[in-house]
This record gives sequence, structure tokens and C-alpha cells, in this order.
Amino acid sequence: MKKIIAVDGPAGAGKSTVSKIVAARLGYTYIDTGSMYRAVALKVLLTGKNVDDAIKDVDIKLDANGKIFLDGRDVTKEIRTPEVSRGASDVAKFGVVREKLTQLQREMAAQGKVIMDGRDIGTQVLPDADLKIFLTASVEERARRRFLELKEKNFAADFEQIKKEISLRDKQDSERKIAPLAQAEDAVLLDSTKLTIEEVVAEILRLAA
Ligand code: DC
Repeated sequence: MKKIIAVDGPAGAGKSTVSKIVAARLGYTYIDTGSMYRAVALKVLLTGKNVDDAIKDVDIKLDANGKIFLDGRDVTKEIRTPEVSRGASDVAKFGVVREKLTQLQREMAAQGKVIMDGRDIGTQVLPDADLKIFLTASVEERARRRFLELKEKNFAADFEQIKKEISLRDKQDSERKIAPLAQAEDAVLLDSTKLTIEEVVAEILRLAA
């Protein structure tokens, strides 16, 4: 059984949904690295500090139940707004932010039996991962999923606007200079556009065995 699984891909491809299920089935820890970039963005938004200062003394913890704590406060819900999504993609360009979070992520993965998702896990954070997945889907399908997700949480949602924001985030995440969103050479490409969640989970479990 593969001990460390890295899952990368663009926003809305289903990384966190399938990674959570795979983790539960294998008894692994799921680590959502996007939530850590979101927490840094939230700190910048709430404190008005510049990125260099905000990252210096930031305290980010993920617990076993998937909750995220920013400087000791549970911010699990607060980091899911469209404003924080934009902010996360912005702070993710900074080398100081990436260095600090990458180090934290490596420490969290050191125990093994983890599935970690993000943008640069297979390429930068865990280049020696036992299994690397690059999960993608068409931009329309990803926008449709994000639209339904936001509606479910009672956030205002406009499909065209979401599509535009996802495309912008893809562009920003793929074109940044440091650790851009990219498929690792040894990653398995999975296109989830026409697959159900269960089909993607089954394929990852088959590859992990
Ligand atoms: O997966 P997500 O949508 O919650 O991630 C939010 C942003 O964080 C994403 O637009 C880019 C950034 N990110 C990153 O640069 N590297 C990661 N490993 C994870 C997320």
C-alpha cells in the first residue's frame, strides 16, 4: 500500500472531496494544503498586515476532524468565501508564504499514511510521494460544481461569475513564478469531467494498492 499520496489539480476538480473519501477508506490522514493558503489570506484580510508580516508569526493547525485553526481560532467556515479564495491565490505567489507552508506540510506528511492535496504537492512539497495524481476537469464542469457547492452553503452564486473567477485562479496558479500548478512528470492524470466521485475514488484506491 502506498504510504504517501499527493493529489494536485486546478480549483474545483474534486481533489478535496475524493481525497477525504480515500483517506477515510484507507485510514489515512487527509491534509488540505489549500486551506492553509486560505488561512494566511484570511489573516491578511482581517489584520490588514502585509504578507511578510502576516506570515512571520502565523500559527496554523489542522486537526483530525478537518478543522483549521488560525492563531488558535477555528476558521474552518470563514476561509470558504469567494473573497478568501481570491486572496489565497494572491498570497500563494509569495516565496515567504510558500516556504513556510511547504515546511509545515512536509512535517505533517512525515508520519506517513497521508493523502495531501494542493497545487504543488507532487512537484515541490512531496516529490518522493509514493503515488501522485493530477486531477482535472473542464472549466465548465468545475464551475458547475463550485456553483452547486456555494448554493448549498447559501452563498450568493452566479455561474458566469464563478467560471470567470475559476479561469482567473487557474491562470494565476499556473503562471506564477514559484511552484506553479503543474502535473509532475510521474503523476497519473485523471480527468474527472465525466466521472462520478465514486469512480475517481475507485481509481485512486486501485492505484494506491
Ligand atoms: O485548493 P484551494 O482552492 O482551497 O486553494 C486555494 C488557493 O491556494 C489556490 O488558488 C492556490 C493556492 N494553493 C497553492 O498555491 N498551493 C497549494 N499547495 C494549495 C493551494
